[in-house]
Amino acid sequence: MKGGMDDVIAAETLLSHIDGEAGRLVIRGHDLEELAGEMRFEDATSLLWEGLIETGGRDRLSSAIGGGRVRAFARFEPFHDRLADRTPVEAMRFLLASIADESELAAPAALVGATGVAAAMAIRASQGRVPVAPDAGAGHAADLLRMVRGHAPDDAEAGALDAYLVTVIDHGLNASTFAARVVASTRAGAVSSVIAGLCALKGPLHGGAPGPVLDMLDAIGTASNAEPWLNDALGRGERLMGFGHRVYRIRDPRADVLKKALGALEGRGNRLALAEQVEKAALCLLAERKIGLRLDVNVEFYTALLLEALGLPRSGFTPIFAAGRVSGWLAHASEQEASGRLIRPKSHYIGPMPERAA
Ligand code: ACO
Repeated sequence: MKGGMDDVIAAETLLSHIDGEAGRLVIRGHDLEELAGEMRFEDATSLLWEGLIETGGRDRLSSAIGGGRVRAFARFEPFHDRLADRTPVEAMRFLLASIADESELAAPAALVGATGVAAAMAIRASQGRVPVAPDAGAGHAADLLRMVRGHAPDDAEAGALDAYLVTVIDHGLNASTFAARVVASTRAGAVSSVIAGLCALKGPLHGGAPGPVLDMLDAIGTASNAEPWLNDALGRGERLMGFGHRVYRIRDPRADVLKKALGALEGRGNRLALAEQVEKAALCLLAERKIGLRLDVNVEFYTALLLEALGLPRSGFTPIFAAGRVSGWLAHASEQEASGRLIRPKSHYIGPMPERAA
């Protein structure tokens, strides 16, 4: 038995396929590279949900997500002054937990809108700023950026965030998606599945890594310090944030898609040059010191740089990740519910047995 269930197949899915040996991610029959940077997040959601969740087509889905943002803002705004002492993910968890199962906001498209609003409101609260109301007619990525920063993004910025949200929309049976599916299998409902996904995403071994990636770049400071700094960190037994993956044994294909999107934000405080040097030094050291493990860059490394270049605070990176992954959680929850099967694995008892009288 492997404690991390590494080789266990726990679901059949139409949604996405990861080939860890080839470094390939397929979403609904398309390579990620055909989707990210090529379509808006709403259209990727429509593609992902096809045949699983009724959307009424791309245009109706966009307006249902926009309508969800408006309804969610009305629901969440009264809670704004209760968010101050929470981290952004904790604030988001609190806001999403206020959605009643049978309410209009619990419908899948509305929940996607609500997750974006919760992310934006939570990030602003952590900065001591009042929430910004959504614009139902704007694109989801553009509106998300506007609600976080307080001013509208230009097309390049909105396009870069769309590329990010599409990149993270779904990724096989990762920890948060599995958590969402387990909850869906009990028929607890979509809101509970989304909250379960968010709770799993919160940890630094899953969605919480991009902030620490930037902390690492700050500590390294200059390209010439990369090699000695990383070497010392590995010497202390630390893990390098943004490297390694349970499934990919070569480069995570999402890293390159995000690196390309980052390139489109040239001259906006992007630290691509330093990041490339750090990546190069880290890959050499990991190959030398972790022989046979085949550790490479993962999605979080370039996520950190992209979200930083978009002016998002690092404590807000996991909420923004959730705003994209929510479409995947909901699709998996719906697929799991349709299967009708409760997820209930067994455990192997290794404790003492009571003594029985003969
Ligand atoms: N730096 C240094 N060594 C590493 C790293 C790393 N980033 N990743 C793995 N290793 C080494 C360690 O020696 C580890 O052994 P240990 O448990 O004795 O310390 C060994 O490789 C384990 O290898 P795997 O089985 O391939 O890794 P696992 O599947 O357990 O972990 C994970 C995968 C959690 C992503 C890991 O690589 C890690 O902690 N990376 C840093 C955090 C990070 O970037 N997280 C974001 C992941 S992407 C996402 O979830 C969206």
